[in-house]
Amino acid sequence: MKVINLEATNSVLNTYMAELRDKQFQQNRTLFRRNLTRIGQVMAYELSRTLDYSSVNVTTPLGTRKMSLPTDHIVIGTVLRAGLAFHEGFLHVFDKGDSAFVAAYREEGNVERMKIHLEYMASPHLTGSTLLLVDPMLATGGSMELAYKAFLRAGEPKKLHLCVTIAAPEGIDHLHRVFPDDSVTLWTAAIDERLNENAYIVPGLGDAGDLSFGEKM
Ligand code: PRP
Ligand code: URA
Repeated sequence: MKVINLEATNSVLNTYMAELRDKQFQQNRTLFRRNLTRIGQVMAYELSRTLDYSSVNVTTPLGTRKMSLPTDHIVIGTVLRAGLAFHEGFLHVFDKGDSAFVAAYREEGNVERMKIHLEYMASPHLTGSTLLLVDPMLATGGSMELAYKAFLRAGEPKKLHLCVTIAAPEGIDHLHRVFPDDSVTLWTAAIDERLNENAYIVPGLGDAGDLSFGEKM
């Protein structure tokens, strides 16, 4: 797996990330979701540079113009629920893309043993598609692995991009083992220090699902 950390280049993405992490800004749930969406939009734009393109003639009222347009069939696959606002940002950029959803949640556990429940999957056919698997937090990597395996029931994508806002080194190591091949790309807006004993990313941002939608039972 290839890792692209967008924080390596300074951009306005850092402002969105700073607000996302800041506990004062986090009091405003609308802004928290909005920043996830903005980060998704920027990441989708960066990712768009790596797609396949072909030349197409576009007719204007005054003539024709040859343009290079992406040809990939994009499917944005999201892990509910924290992924929803992030997903929205990808949809703003890939507005002709299809969407796929899987519901997964972590039962409270620890770094050694984190039980993840997967309960629902809805996806178009994925064979030959470019699948963007988007989920804001990559902690142990268990949710991402399970989500991908669930989506495989809908067919094998031509290309896989894993997209997160914050990745823990433990999650990246895990995904390197699941995807040893360089054809898979992990896009992240930051790589943090470590996981704590409850498998939360440190310093991270807290619980992305709760900050987006409120505490769950
Ligand atoms: C978060 C996040 C990921 C998962 C990452 O979801 O959205 O899906 O944790 O952790 P992992 O890498 O250790 O699997 P969470 O389980 O908190 O569910 P929620 O979105 O419903 O809050
Ligand atoms: N899920 C979150 O929402 N935050 C973490 O730090 C880890 C998993």
